[in-house]
Amino acid sequence: MDCSNLAALVLAAGKGTRMHSDRPKVLRPLLGEPMLGHVYAALAPFFDDRLLTVVGFGAEDVAAAYPERASGFVTQAEQRGTGHAVQVAWPRVAGSGAEYVLVANGDTPLLAWAPLEGFLEAAVQDFQADVAFMTIRPADPAGFGRVVRDGLARPTAIVEAKDFDPARHGQPTGEVNAGIYCLKISTVGPLLERLTDHNAAGEVYLTDLVALADAAKLSVLGYGCGQDPNLLGINTPAELSRAEFTLRKRLTAQWMEAGAVLHQPESVVVGPFVTLAPGCEVSGPCELTGRTRIGAGARVAAFTSLRDAEVGPGAHIREFCHLESARVGEGCIVGPYARLRPGAALEAGARVGNFCELKKAHIGPGSKVNHLSYIGDAEVGPGVNIGAGTITCNYDGKNKYRTTIGQGAFIGSNTALVAPVSVGANALVGAGSVITKDVPEGELAVARGRQVNLKRRNGAS
Ligand code: UD1
Ligand code: MG
Repeated sequence: MDCSNLAALVLAAGKGTRMHSDRPKVLRPLLGEPMLGHVYAALAPFFDDRLLTVVGFGAEDVAAAYPERASGFVTQAEQRGTGHAVQVAWPRVAGSGAEYVLVANGDTPLLAWAPLEGFLEAAVQDFQADVAFMTIRPADPAGFGRVVRDGLARPTAIVEAKDFDPARHGQPTGEVNAGIYCLKISTVGPLLERLTDHNAAGEVYLTDLVALADAAKLSVLGYGCGQDPNLLGINTPAELSRAEFTLRKRLTAQWMEAGAVLHQPESVVVGPFVTLAPGCEVSGPCELTGRTRIGAGARVAAFTSLRDAEVGPGAHIREFCHLESARVGEGCIVGPYARLRPGAALEAGARVGNFCELKKAHIGPGSKVNHLSYIGDAEVGPGVNIGAGTITCNYDGKNKYRTTIGQGAFIGSNTALVAPVSVGANALVGAGSVITKDVPEGELAVARGRQVNLKRRNGAS
């Protein structure tokens, strides 16, 4: 569908009182991504710079999480309800040049484009509705706004649960408001001004637009989506957890369908922006989040956590590893118990073993850092062997300094490399050295006290 005459508005200013948190609700994560990020992923490809967001509670945190969207932010300083949020944003909506606006609650992270497209086609193309909204029939409709229809099945109102009175509104039908609306900008503008806070919550409800539009004889569409669990708004920790479960199952099923082997898939977390190449193997429990990419034939063992990590073809991440913004080349072996921090990059065939930590360290092809080492702010050439317990001393309390190790060098165990320092190609550093001066290419450096063997006193043999 062509969305060029539509703008989108995400309502994300609420605190989310029922979440019992000081963080804005829309920043609560599912599979490692804030709720809002899921909503953006569904909408951004179609609306791009016509995507506006109402922020309020924790606005700075939301802007920090999505700086690329901040130009579309409108601030609702006081959160007086969903209708008030739309009122505050209306000048931007009306000024967008669009004919319609899609309004979506920011707490609906499982929203996908396919059902939205069906809804928008019906609202804009088929019905040219002034006010259209998606409805669902959840197993537990208790907390939602209830849809009231007349004898001809036309929607006449959405009544919030707190305000619902069977004597006035009839028996509940189980059909509720999903919190996704398509509004015709020219006709809805005047109605918005007439919203009030005369209700049980004392908030300005967006949902009152339906009754106002009906009274004004405008065209109103309640677009039924059956039981679609992806349209459930999230208000409580339990709902968040259920939605995360649903999404996790959906994503792991998709990746298995696409050719990834997931062992114990029920405990594999694959975030929405992760990619798994066909033929890779991932064992649960583990977490792959952010923009992590796993190459063909790569293996990721259990008890690992990878965020924004790239794992090359045929590489093996063994148990209990933690990778963040790190790159592991083709055929590398990492772990068990390795930590690759941001900027760690391993070229093909390199190995990083147990209890090693790497940060901003480039490890050349085939090089090994196999045991108990910290390598930070370092450039390590190809074919280097770094012995057990090697530490790059990169920080003097004020500044960070780099260590360079040339091709084929051998660093003996328990070496401290006091940066800035370089070890030349094919140089050898004796075990236990504290290296404070550069080591020239091909030379042997030993920087430790010489061993002295003395006869013991008092005749001990
Ligand atoms: C809302 C609907 C309800 C619907 C349900 C679907 C209203 C009055 N009710 O209820 O009919 O069934 O969603 O999930 O709209 N927000 C703001 N500013 C505010 C208040 C809220 O931006 O002043 C944002 C929130 O951040 C949230 C969204 O609007 O993303 C919805 O608010 P929420 O409090 O969750 O509404 P519900 O009670 O779930
Ligand atoms: Mg909600």
